Amino acid sequence: MENSSVISPPPPTSYPLAPKLLIVDDEEDIRTQMKWALGQDYQVFLAEDRGTALEIQGREQPSVVTLDLGLPPRPADVEEGFAALEGMISADPFLKVIIITGRAEREHALKAVGNGAYDFLYKPVQIDELKVVLKRAFYVSSLERDNRLLQKQAGNEGFQGMLGASPQMQEVFSTVRKVATTDAPVLIVGDSGTGKELVAQAIHRLSGRKEEPFIVINCGAIPETLLESELFGHEKGAFTGAHIQRKGRIEAAQGGTLFLDEIGELSLGLQVKLLRYLQEQVIERIGGREQIRVDARVITATNRNLKQAMKNGVFREDLYFRLAVVSISMPHLRDREGDLLMLAKAFLGRYAEESKRRINGFTNQAIRAVESYSWPGNVRELENRIKRAVIMAEGSKITPADLELGAHHARDEYMNLKEAREALEKEMIMKALAKNKDNVTRAAEALGISRPTLYELMEKLGIERK
Ligand SMILES: Nc1ncnc2c1ncn2[C@@H]1O[C@H](COP(=O)(O)OP(=O)(O)OP(=O)(O)O)[C@@H](O)[C@H]1O
Ligand SMILES: [Mg+2]
Repeated sequence: MENSSVISPPPPTSYPLAPKLLIVDDEEDIRTQMKWALGQDYQVFLAEDRGTALEIQGREQPSVVTLDLGLPPRPADVEEGFAALEGMISADPFLKVIIITGRAEREHALKAVGNGAYDFLYKPVQIDELKVVLKRAFYVSSLERDNRLLQKQAGNEGFQGMLGASPQMQEVFSTVRKVATTDAPVLIVGDSGTGKELVAQAIHRLSGRKEEPFIVINCGAIPETLLESELFGHEKGAFTGAHIQRKGRIEAAQGGTLFLDEIGELSLGLQVKLLRYLQEQVIERIGGREQIRVDARVITATNRNLKQAMKNGVFREDLYFRLAVVSISMPHLRDREGDLLMLAKAFLGRYAEESKRRINGFTNQAIRAVESYSWPGNVRELENRIKRAVIMAEGSKITPADLELGAHHARDEYMNLKEAREALEKEMIMKALAKNKDNVTRAAEALGISRPTLYELMEKLGIERK
């Protein structure tokens, strides 16, 4: 412990604001020497065993630690040292631990680095060498701290929980701001995972209706027979099984916002009923005669091409023009200039912090893999892959394998971008289908896209189910 060693003459003292260094070594002579040599540059704290080290770390929060692996009660082994390493890093994932070990224990040193140590030095430690390593460790640590601060600020500057610095997203944000204060219906169009629901929520939260309900119905997820009663409600005895009267979701949105997701899945029959509500602001429950006035702002979203659906006669034109008074088109993630890596880093920061894992970045290969991948599942897929990678990662940096973006994703250099995208999409969809025994719902889930999107992609890419 710091005060337990009697030293003469007393070591020179550092400035009170000097960075904090913890030295963990069971040999008193070594502790004393190191404190003597380093006391001028750092505030030095000393610990002779794991318990004391953890206690001092908790109290003083040093940025850097030097750790001798052989600690009591078994100084000849490295178990205590490894346990101390693990304990300290899980308490502070950004701690820089420098392992001090015998030359014969190279394996241990490497393993320690694999377990999150920052660097290692061989005994006997050369003070000059140690000073250089320490200087760099403190420097890296302060850089990382600044970086975390910056990232936090960037995160706070997001728009209503949405990140995006690209001109494409700035335009979306600006439209959201403009339409939020009106009651105009908004149609949000975009591929799966591009953030349509977040946009709908943002519009609601920025509107005068924010204190009233925000009601979400996914028209693609509810069987048609149930959807009608879900939307409009029913009276007691309206149909077999209608034992009680039930209000629908449209009524529940009274005064607030009704968000109809996957509107392209709505049957023609229900399209007529919805159109009527939009025209007259009244509904009738199934089996009821009462006209109920409902004031709800309607926001819809779709990842289907509604214009094509109109041509095919499966979507009503008059309804389309009612819904698309304002239309917001969500850009594909791969088209958002500069957002991809920013989002990747933001998600990494979020999930590393949440899971308290000491992961502080991506390998260069991982960055290249992220940049060259086509991201068919957009932001949702990026978020999911990074969330999983943070759990899977063995080192302190995310690798392409952690992201499940292997070398086989490197595309043939003779393909143009569109061909490469399609080849990759096809490959991933075939794999997901095979893995999930041709169950489209599960394959879509695995790919992070909706079932209708998967069907559409399968059609586009000419993939048939076996
Ligand atoms: N700009 C963004 N910033 C941060 N997170 C985002 C952004 N866009 C989307 N996300 C995240 O991605 C996920 C998918 O977003 P959302 O549900 O809004 O997409 P969607 O377009 O409705 O997808 P789907 O068509 O599959 O329903 C969510 O977890 C959301 O938090
Ligand atoms: Mg959605």
